[in-house]
Amino acid sequence: MAVQQDTIWERFLSPVFRLLIDEDKWRRYADSIDWERESDRFRQADVTFPQYYSSQNFHGIKDGYLNYRAAVSYDPITEYVLPPNETLVRQALIDAVKVQPRRILDLGCGTGSTTLMLKQAFPQAEVIGLDLSPYMLVRAEDKAKTAGLEIVWQHGNAEKTSFSDACFDLVTAALLFHETPNVVCREILRESFRLLVAGGQVLTLDGNQKTLRQLDWLNNIFEEPYIREYADGNIDASMGSAGFEAVRTYDVWWIHQLSSGIKPTPVNNAQQYTRTSIDTTIDNNDWGELGSPAFGIMA
Ligand SMILES: C[S@@+](CC[C@H](N)C(=O)[O-])C[C@H]1O[C@@H](n2cnc3c(N)ncnc32)[C@H](O)[C@@H]1O
Repeated sequence: MAVQQDTIWERFLSPVFRLLIDEDKWRRYADSIDWERESDRFRQADVTFPQYYSSQNFHGIKDGYLNYRAAVSYDPITEYVLPPNETLVRQALIDAVKVQPRRILDLGCGTGSTTLMLKQAFPQAEVIGLDLSPYMLVRAEDKAKTAGLEIVWQHGNAEKTSFSDACFDLVTAALLFHETPNVVCREILRESFRLLVAGGQVLTLDGNQKTLRQLDWLNNIFEEPYIREYADGNIDASMGSAGFEAVRTYDVWWIHQLSSGIKPTPVNNAQQYTRTSIDTTIDNNDWGELGSPAFGIMA
């Protein structure tokens, strides 16, 4: 693939985002961290970077996420690209949690924006954020420390994690699948299924596949190598093939979508966790009461 030499700072943010972002502040932040030393604390020797990940630029940034610039620029940009409001959109995922989670895994956690919200919403739960980029984890840890939140940050590949079977009640993935080929998305959902207890929930928040198919020009803006493939895919179908039941996808502000699935309880549920009053029922009435505007089951 041709290497994009300019960064997103030069190509896309300028001039519009330069007006919005305090570049000096973020440069000072970048300079205040020894990124190689800090990222080395997270690096796991047995984690290899899949080809789809290490061979591409994401968002116009050379080396994609394997680069401290990705970690520094991610939040100030994302704030402006999740209309109508980043927190509101992420809150849709939090509001859609139908289990009482004791252990939560946030896959492709990036700089931890959703992970932090999960910990705030479920303070008693053990929350783990997992990402392939040790640079993103440095930023995520920094944000959690500033917020006074205890979260475990794990370097790993969401396709094949090192966690044992059935050890999470909730597995989430925010803005991950538009960054992966569909075959990887399906693998991550299969892994999520393995990691969940019976009755556990998987929740994904991402671009709205239906809208992205209709508004193809959107796919050109952010230099996302897999976004067309993602738009042509179907998260519902992938969740179903991974084994999830009660699979539903909802529009969130037309350009985002929220998908939920439940790992079925086997008839012979010898492996199921003993747990108390976990509500795994999802129906349209419940969803209608979401505090955030998730609406309309996708066709
Ligand atoms: C667009 S960012 C989303 C970050 C965060 N979840 C959020 O909502 O802002 C995608 C993240 O997924 C990570 N990622 C991509 N493929 C991955 C994989 N197979 N395993 C773990 N993380 C992955 C990238 O490193 C990046 O941090």
